[in-house]
Amino acid sequence: RAQTRAYDKKVVEHFDNPRNVGSFDKKDMNVGTGIVGAPACGDVMKLQIKIDEEGNIVDSCFKTFGCGSAIASSSVATEWIKGTHMDEAVTIKNQDIAKHLNLPPVKLHCSMLAEDAIRSAVADVKAKREASAQAKAA
Ligand code: FES
Ligand code: FES
Repeated sequence: RAQTRAYDKKVVEHFDNPRNVGSFDKKDMNVGTGIVGAPACGDVMKLQIKIDEEGNIVDSCFKTFGCGSAIASSSVATEWIKGTHMDEAVTIKNQDIAKHLNLPPVKLHCSMLAEDAIRSAVADVKAKREASAQAKAA
């Protein structure tokens, strides 16, 4: 059956001109990497952050192998988290992204990928810092 609902123009805009596509060096101590997949459709999103000493996100990038809504969601997510503190970034909810992009209910899991990817990138860089602090203390 034909899908009649067209993508919202914000989705199309981010899909055509995705912000912050790219990769950082995963091994960089100041880089957090989150890779998450959506079991429902098999799409995968990688989102990375670069933080300063205080935990402010100075840069962010993503690579998404997925639908237009997932690409748009990751693009919006990187835009929103740049310049925030990582503890603030993890409070971004997929509903906020979905609302911003006018995603229909069937596409909510696409924005969920972005929320999960932010959390996982922050957890990754925090774990790295803790490990290095422990190594120094030992
Ligand atoms: Fe691009 Fe709002 S439409 S971040
Ligand atoms: Fe699965 Fe969008 S991420 S359809």
